[in-house]
Amino acid sequence: MDTTTASASPSPSPASAPAAAPPSAPVPSSGAAGGARSAVPATSHGAFGGAAYVHGYSGEETARLRAQADVLAALLHDGPGYPAGSRVLEAGCGVGAQTMHLVAASPDAHVVALDRSAASLAEARARLAAHAPHARLEFRQADLYELPFAEGEFDHVFVCFVLEHLADPVGALAGLRRVLRPGGTITVIEGDHGSAFFHPASERATAAIDCLVALQAAAGGNGLIGRRVQPLLSAAGFAEVEVRPRTVYADETRPELVEGFTRNTFIGMVEGVREEAVAAGLSTAEEFARGLDDLRLTAGPGGIFHYTFFKGHAVKPAAPSAGRRAAGRAR
Ligand SMILES: C[S@@+](CC[C@H](N)C(=O)[O-])C[C@H]1O[C@@H](n2cnc3c(N)ncnc32)[C@H](O)[C@@H]1O
Repeated sequence: MDTTTASASPSPSPASAPAAAPPSAPVPSSGAAGGARSAVPATSHGAFGGAAYVHGYSGEETARLRAQADVLAALLHDGPGYPAGSRVLEAGCGVGAQTMHLVAASPDAHVVALDRSAASLAEARARLAAHAPHARLEFRQADLYELPFAEGEFDHVFVCFVLEHLADPVGALAGLRRVLRPGGTITVIEGDHGSAFFHPASERATAAIDCLVALQAAAGGNGLIGRRVQPLLSAAGFAEVEVRPRTVYADETRPELVEGFTRNTFIGMVEGVREEAVAAGLSTAEEFARGLDDLRLTAGPGGIFHYTFFKGHAVKPAAPSAGRRAAGRAR
């Protein structure tokens, strides 16, 4: 396994997370299925010009990303692996939670795992060195919007839970298309918090989820992006776009999903924005705590939790049609 190759650009550290902009710069709530209720002060863009990262880079978030990748591996990493000798770019690899599954499924492919966070890359490198020491793997610290690769350098691109954090997902996808060879493929996986429904139903629980959606929107991202994977890939100039939903349904007959997904992945994610939501005035500490209590009931006896991920697959055409070439235009 190769070592991390640092880019010329510095990485934002958790301690230097972007500060909130003055309250005079409100961002409207999404108004979509999540139905977030109030405006949130916009946060400034990160050091690389992308959106701020709503989940942060804490130890809890590292554990959550790993739990999420492991419990969803069979659902999201289905199908054959990448062919031997092919070059695969994992864009936004974070702490390497998906990288573990990529290299396990494609042991003879050469994977380049990229992220802007030096701290996450260090976590990823340590974990992969411990668990997959023979993987053909290279880490790069860089910004997705300024990929340090030549045109057509990769056969495949894999992007999981990253577009939701980007202010310009079409621009990022167009950049990823550039580094793919003609005929190369991209796989994009995104969630959509508007797809969450559960029993017992609870307005307070829904309101807590809406806080996350609103905070993510204020940071320039989109927690409801799953439903947009097909239009985004098409707008970025990809062909043969195919998106399929991947549904997680957890009830007490599936305790591993209740623990790994409902509790550790989803509720953990909502819990992670508690302080930010209260500080932004989206909720009170009491309201948010009650929302979390109600969400936890969905992981208890008689509770159910439902969520849908969207997995897209597309191809870089030999010559993009003129109508699609202006990849900056989202639909
Ligand atoms: C939710 S994490 C997902 C990590 C990994 N794909 C997974 O599923 O576990 C999103 C990652 O995208 C990275 N990211 C966000 N914007 C980026 C950008 N502009 N360039 C590179 N990485 C970025 C963040 O640093 C973070 O590690």
